[in-house]
Amino acid sequence: MVPVIIADFWYIGVIYRFLLWIIKVSICIYIFLLGLLPLVFRYSYQVQKKILFLNFVHWPLGIDLSKPETVGIKGARNFYLTTDENVKIGTWQILPQSLINESLPESEESYEALLRNATRPVFLYMHGNSGNRASSHRVELYQLFQRLNFHVICFDYRSYGDSDNVDLSEMGVINDSKFVLEWLIKIVNNSAPIFVWGHSLGTGVSSHVLAILASNDVNPAGLFLESPFNNLADEITEHPLAQIFKHLPWFHWVIVQPLYNNQLRFESDRHIGKIQCPIMILHAEDDNVVPFSLGEKLFNAANELHGYNIEQIQMTRIDSSYGLGHKYICRYKDLPRIIENFVTQSSKKAMPNKN
Ligand SMILES: *[C@@H]1O[C@H](CO)[C@@H](O)[C@H](O)[C@H]1NC(C)=O
Ligand SMILES: *[C@@H]1O[C@H](CO)[C@@H](O)[C@H](O)[C@H]1NC(C)=O
Ligand SMILES: *[C@@H]1O[C@H](CO)[C@@H](O)[C@H](O)[C@H]1NC(C)=O
Ligand SMILES: *[C@@H]1O[C@H](CO)[C@@H](O)[C@H](O)[C@H]1NC(C)=O
Repeated sequence: MVPVIIADFWYIGVIYRFLLWIIKVSICIYIFLLGLLPLVFRYSYQVQKKILFLNFVHWPLGIDLSKPETVGIKGARNFYLTTDENVKIGTWQILPQSLINESLPESEESYEALLRNATRPVFLYMHGNSGNRASSHRVELYQLFQRLNFHVICFDYRSYGDSDNVDLSEMGVINDSKFVLEWLIKIVNNSAPIFVWGHSLGTGVSSHVLAILASNDVNPAGLFLESPFNNLADEITEHPLAQIFKHLPWFHWVIVQPLYNNQLRFESDRHIGKIQCPIMILHAEDDNVVPFSLGEKLFNAANELHGYNIEQIQMTRIDSSYGLGHKYICRYKDLPRIIENFVTQSSKKAMPNKN
């Protein structure tokens, strides 16, 4: 009898060994995910930069950046600026609707002349991470600016799009953007007000650039911050992908501290105190990349630093019922009115820049 019983229950041993195997595999996955992966992050500056900038994400694919018309933009030209650090920057200039109703300019020079003689506001767009200046949510916003009859300049920071692929860092993208803004200020020569628009990571870029320029008394007429965060430490902690890590006791040591030590900070909540032009923050409540609370923190920091000047610092809260999230505030039905009001108010106060 006994051998028969053993034969009947042979599978208990198999189940036991299987469970043991599952436990071992899970422990390995946990060690890898919560220990090894963060350690790789801590000790690899390259990995930190890749994850922060996502510049290797090329989207849309197969786009010829030298032809803005291939993504449906009319009245635009592609050109390249070379910065004082010898970095080639891929740039688009998009004309306001009223200048392309009848015919399109025929040469590079006539595009530039129209910018030099601009009478309508000029918008300089600083994009967020991943993709390039042709990404569709960006194009949608340029087209809104164009319909509102504004000039638009947009570009790719170093290592994005077809700009030069040179060492990427916070100061690198700041220097590129500062160069483009200074170039634009020179070209426009106070003939029209210039507005800077930053989205997502681009809000960190534009806040930092404007703070640096303000210390030289150079200021655009206004700054729009779409879906901004207050600083990189909070953004990386609140990002959905960080949620499985953020409660680890070593999170700060392994994720936040190394970024800061490598000068990847984007501390807009410090820089914003130095910015002199009016600022409009736009944030959707249902943003799941940069939580709404971080835009609010930036707004609060700006208010504290500027003494609660409601004319200088404004915020538009966009209800989650619109479902606009992180990228589609450009579709908000009230956006044209908000932009036009802000542009009118700010243009009146804008001081000319030395040239
Ligand atoms: C040209 O474009 C402007 C701005 O969108 C528009 O208001 C105007 O009616 C257009 N004019 C013509 C002649 O189509
Ligand atoms: C720009 O303005 C200058 C000087 O007022 C003028 O000579 C030139 O023709 C204008 N260019 C265009 C394209 O309107
Ligand atoms: C950015 O510009 C500053 C000031 O001109 C310079 O010292 C620094 O080396 C530049 N940094 C990078 C990464 O290009
Ligand atoms: C800029 O505008 C001023 C005033 O209109 C003019 O005197 C100056 O020559 C212009 N500068 C350039 C570089 O066109």
